[in-house]
Amino acid sequence: MAILHAPASAPVGVPPGSTKTAAILGIASYLPDEIITNAHLEAMVETSDAWILERTGIRERRKIASGMTTSMMAAEAGRRAMAAAGVDSVDALIVATVSPDSPLPSTACLVQRRLGLAGIPAFDIAAACAGFVYGVAIGRGLIVSSGMSRVLVIAGDALTSLIDYKDRSTCVLFGDGAGAAVLGVSDDGGIEGIQWGADGGEADLIYYGPKAGEEDSENGLRMYGKGTFRLGVERMAESARAVCAEAGWSLNDVTLLVPHQANLRIIEAVAKRLDLPLDRVVINIDRYGNTSGASIPIALAEAVETGRMRQGDKVVCIAFGSGVVWGGIALRWIAPTG
Ligand SMILES: CC(C)(COP(=O)(O)OP(=O)(O)OC[C@H]1O[C@@H](n2cnc3c(N)ncnc32)[C@H](O)[C@@H]1OP(=O)(O)O)[C@@H](O)C(=O)NCCC(=O)NCCS
Repeated sequence: MAILHAPASAPVGVPPGSTKTAAILGIASYLPDEIITNAHLEAMVETSDAWILERTGIRERRKIASGMTTSMMAAEAGRRAMAAAGVDSVDALIVATVSPDSPLPSTACLVQRRLGLAGIPAFDIAAACAGFVYGVAIGRGLIVSSGMSRVLVIAGDALTSLIDYKDRSTCVLFGDGAGAAVLGVSDDGGIEGIQWGADGGEADLIYYGPKAGEEDSENGLRMYGKGTFRLGVERMAESARAVCAEAGWSLNDVTLLVPHQANLRIIEAVAKRLDLPLDRVVINIDRYGNTSGASIPIALAEAVETGRMRQGDKVVCIAFGSGVVWGGIALRWIAPTG
């Protein structure tokens, strides 16, 4: 019988009888050096450090150097993740980005060339701020059902190149960066729950184009802030509950929540809904702003580097973004930590 449609947010299945699962074997990030502070933005649009800090929690964000591209950031994050995992080859390369170097070739192929990984399949996915979760969902699927043993998943965006710096409601929010993970086969736990979904009916909430009602205005990243805020909180909290249920964890078991870094108030609202104290939530939005799909792997890499995440920890990652898209991962951390 033909399958007409899949249920919304269906979990990725591990084939019946298989003992294999996928885990993150190495994680890393790349952040450009240039820092854009709130004071810099005060000089560009009518805003203030106090407004930005109070409404978003952001103090500064990074900006890609002139001449640098998404594939360069992504390749560096990928190289570091492979070093962290102690591997020099992978079976597939996925790059999640909405700011590709150019429409073609794919950013993944450009990263592949930089990393000397010719021959393996390499492709982009466009899932905005949920790009890393989508990439991990696909990577896990490749490992558990197609016999691959290692997949490099990179999320990278240069959103500052899409911003209209005359639009104060969006230009204060976003920054550039990339994060990467090597997924590999594990017999001892790893990715224990995944949930992902999308609703194109809400496509107008966050988009790239002219300002609504001002079709002659220049293109830029546009957003209906309040609607995004409400739906983001709802979907991310639901995703956390769904992946915990799939993993057989209670929310109480969760050592660390790693939410997409969209807005400090969104993160606080999600934590409140889940009844999780903020000392169990990874927050770095103050230093990097919203780095799109890269925000989760950047936060994971930082949690490993700073010793905040330990082997055996039960980690839940959740994301929401343009599309709208959302998703979550329940992850038992098995890679070595400092
Ligand atoms: C964008 C966001 C910070 C705005 O905060 P808010 O409390 O909803 O603020 P509002 O949009 O209601 O704007 C309130 C006022 O501040 C003004 N304002 C907007 N941006 C401003 C800025 N950078 N500086 C100063 N004032 C600003 C607005 O023009 C508005 O003024 P008005 O009342 O005179 O019309 C918030 O809605 C948000 O974070 N939304 C979700 C963002 C997100 O998650 N995006 C990515 C998803 S992946």
